[in-house]
Amino acid sequence: MTDLFSVPLRAVIFDMDGVLTDTIDYHYRTWQRLFDEENIPFNREQNEALRGLSRLDSLNAVIGDRPFSDAKKQEFLDRKNQYFHEFIEQMDETALLPGIAHLLPEIKAAGLPMAVASASQNVTKVCTQLGIADMFDAIANVYDVPNSKPAPDVFLHAAQLIGVEPQACLVLEDGGSGIAAALAAGMRVLGLGSPEIVGAAHVVLPDLAGVTWTMLRDRFETPRTMTSSAVSSVGR
Ligand code: G6P
Ligand code: MG
Repeated sequence: MTDLFSVPLRAVIFDMDGVLTDTIDYHYRTWQRLFDEENIPFNREQNEALRGLSRLDSLNAVIGDRPFSDAKKQEFLDRKNQYFHEFIEQMDETALLPGIAHLLPEIKAAGLPMAVASASQNVTKVCTQLGIADMFDAIANVYDVPNSKPAPDVFLHAAQLIGVEPQACLVLEDGGSGIAAALAAGMRVLGLGSPEIVGAAHVVLPDLAGVTWTMLRDRFETPRTMTSSAVSSVGR
């Protein structure tokens, strides 16, 4: 069997929330506001498990089997999104996470297409606010495909849009469901954040500060035994 790591990388696919920009706190605060209004228990720890889930999947995960009608649930989703917009309207390039402002032009200069594959319906709006929408050859979200993360659909769709086979794609992800989705798509995966959440990725880093495309390419194009203990080999 061909080692995935011996296939040259030809594209990079980014998750958005938690990878390009730190909207995780905005999601947390807006969910907390909604659930407080509805007297539904919620906390920061629960929010961590929502990384990468769609808005509806997130709501369902928190409300469990409480019997809300579909119309009520839709009202919750719309209200949450309205609160979220109060934050994203204020966003600009200062909200890019460390490393992104250097990494995107570097990958572009290397001639690789880039895509965003997000569970957010706000993906185009947020990328535009951040001033990076033009950097991407495709922006895909889970509403374009039958199944949300952890299904591989959104990553496979992004790869198809840029015309690159999954084996030649590198995914950058911060969510457990997104890591599972990218692995199921047969792609190489860099997990960003705590190993408890992203430990299933091929390589794990706390963040992208100081990480260059050369480091990533060297790390992900070198055949190896798969472990997640490769932090030092990307220069950190
Ligand atoms: C991302 C975030 C999730 C969020 C989801 C939906 O995947 O990690 O926390 O729930 O997008 O975002 P949206 O902007 O559509 O509410
Ligand atoms: Mg994310």
